[in-house]
Amino acid sequence: MCRALVAILLVVVIVATAVTSNKLRCVHGELESDRCVCEDNYIGQRCNRQMHCSTFMRNFNGTCIACELGWTGPFCDSIVCHTEYGTPTKDLLMCECIEPAIGSHCTNLTTSNIYLHYNRRMAEFWGPLGAIVIIPMIACFVLCERASEKRQEKRIERVMADMKEAAGDQQVEQLLDREPKGP
Ligand SMILES: *[C@@H]1O[C@H](CO)[C@@H](O)[C@H](O)[C@H]1NC(C)=O
Ligand SMILES: *[C@@H]1O[C@H](CO)[C@@H](O)[C@H](O)[C@H]1NC(C)=O
Repeated sequence: MCRALVAILLVVVIVATAVTSNKLRCVHGELESDRCVCEDNYIGQRCNRQMHCSTFMRNFNGTCIACELGWTGPFCDSIVCHTEYGTPTKDLLMCECIEPAIGSHCTNLTTSNIYLHYNRRMAEFWGPLGAIVIIPMIACFVLCERASEKRQEKRIERVMADMKEAAGDQQVEQLLDREPKGP
């Protein structure tokens, strides 16, 4: 009696685990005969890699014709991070930023961010006096910000464009992580 109960419980646990893990397996897709069939714009064994094509059209083999800014690879599913302020995660899906950069590609380096970052550093090193010394600079930063933000955006766009060209070995690593694409 007791043994039967344990056996039933065990079966329930195994089935529940199998169902949950199958659900987890396809992030943006459906499990069909033991493999994930991905929704539009998703690839990878678990359909966890979003494509970021900049055009609606695709090549015959399913690759993108061109990528959105900040993405690279034949399927535009590998992230491009700011060269100085960001490092891609191993799966190339996200960037890890160094302060004061923020944003998904670590390209948000607004003047106010930089000011806040260094002001905090100053306060840490020199105490409140450090922060006070820097306060007159706020006025300058506020005045200059609008003009400089525009220039900064242009600079970052240029950097990202350069990075796209230099991203060759990332594509190789990413190809190893991808299943062949069906028709
Ligand atoms: C897919 O097709 C494009 C354009 O025809 C080609 O440049 C690219 O190398 C092909 N990629 C793969 C993985 O077959
Ligand atoms: C980064 O900057 C863009 C454009 O200035 C803005 O739309 C976006 O919300 C910012 N992201 C973060 C995380 O602050």
